[in-house]
Amino acid sequence: MDMRIPLKSVETVPSLDRLQRPLRELRMSVIDRCNFRCSYCMPADSLQGQGVFLPLEKLLTDHEIENLVRAFVQLGVRKLRLTGGEPLLRPGLPALVEQLAAIPGLDDIALTTNGVMLPRLAKDLADAGLGRITVSLDTLDEQVLARMSGGKASLDQVLAGITAAEAAGFEQLKINTVVQRGVNDHTIMDLLAHFRGTPHRVRLIEFMDVGNSNHWNKSDVVPNSEWVEKINRKWRISPLSSASAAETARRYAYQDGKGEIGFISSISQPFCGGCARARVTADGIFYTCLFSSKGTNLMPMIRHADSPEELRRRIHSVWVKRNDRYSEERDQPGHDQRKVEMYRLGG
Ligand code: GTP
Ligand code: 5AD
Ligand code: SF4
Ligand code: SF4
Repeated sequence: MDMRIPLKSVETVPSLDRLQRPLRELRMSVIDRCNFRCSYCMPADSLQGQGVFLPLEKLLTDHEIENLVRAFVQLGVRKLRLTGGEPLLRPGLPALVEQLAAIPGLDDIALTTNGVMLPRLAKDLADAGLGRITVSLDTLDEQVLARMSGGKASLDQVLAGITAAEAAGFEQLKINTVVQRGVNDHTIMDLLAHFRGTPHRVRLIEFMDVGNSNHWNKSDVVPNSEWVEKINRKWRISPLSSASAAETARRYAYQDGKGEIGFISSISQPFCGGCARARVTADGIFYTCLFSSKGTNLMPMIRHADSPEELRRRIHSVWVKRNDRYSEERDQPGHDQRKVEMYRLGG
């Protein structure tokens, strides 16, 4: 007897996981390499010699990524975020974006980047149909930035990237700022002051225990509630209601109208309840949580697909079994197994 899920149900019923969360967002890593070595992501001392990154021939091709994204869209995905490593290192990224932007049903294509290659690529990405850009920037202090990026980031280059994105028409950027106690916390108010009054939104991200190599320790996390209080003493801020259940950031507005700040508090206030995010690595492994230790290799179905239905069925069957809520269970025993690295999953 054929026990497979009837295709009709795969396509007409939204894929709900075991906690009734729909599949709505896909975070697609397009390359695992990066030109930075951020202390919280892939510190150079933890990369064990050669061979940690995928050889370029193992990356999904543009055509394969397009087919994969199409399958996810048919299962309910509406938002796509391209990640890395550093996604702008993938050769020919604008052409890939152009292919993805043509997929019917995909409402939003965004990208997370460290910014340094935006002067070269922002215009082509805008022309290709990229909708939104998030730039990672942890501090405006040159020395702290050098320390946090493993000596690879230059402030001028990242700021030039932001200017290039603005010039290409990305008027409202998100700025991702990971806060590590004793490392960049003394520079956060300056960073906020810099972007206050611009259309860009800084999001303060609690340092997370992703992967196995970032030497995470809970004492290095600054709970975002501390920032809400501190910022409110300097510039009055008020909470905004969330735009969707799947939102990662709690948003606040400056009461004087000078913009917005987001707080991403995966450690102190987890947001698994609305998590509608699937993640796929650049070689086609599908993960249902940022903190997963095991994924599902979709490559055989992508590369040697008998039919697109097989791929859709496989994704659907993994999603409906999903019950991940790592951030809510972090302190419970049994979570010390090896996790996939952040630079493979792209955050
Ligand atoms: P949009 O809503 O598409 O604008 O993006 P976003 O809020 O998901 O932002 P972004 O992709 O920039 O995510 C910001 C950061 O939040 C990531 O870099 C991660 O550090 C963290 N993050 C994103 N998604 C998750 C998640 O599902 N779980 C946890 N624990 N952290 C997440
Ligand atoms: N904790 C929190 N955020 C992280 N990111 C990378 N590693 C971590 C971590 N350990 C975020 C960065 C970047 C995105 C790719 O992932 O802010 O914006
Ligand atoms: Fe590269 Fe982003 Fe990781 Fe930093 S956080 S090392 S920029 S992938
Ligand atoms: Fe989603 Fe896992 Fe993050 Fe929770 S910890 S929000 S389930 S990715």
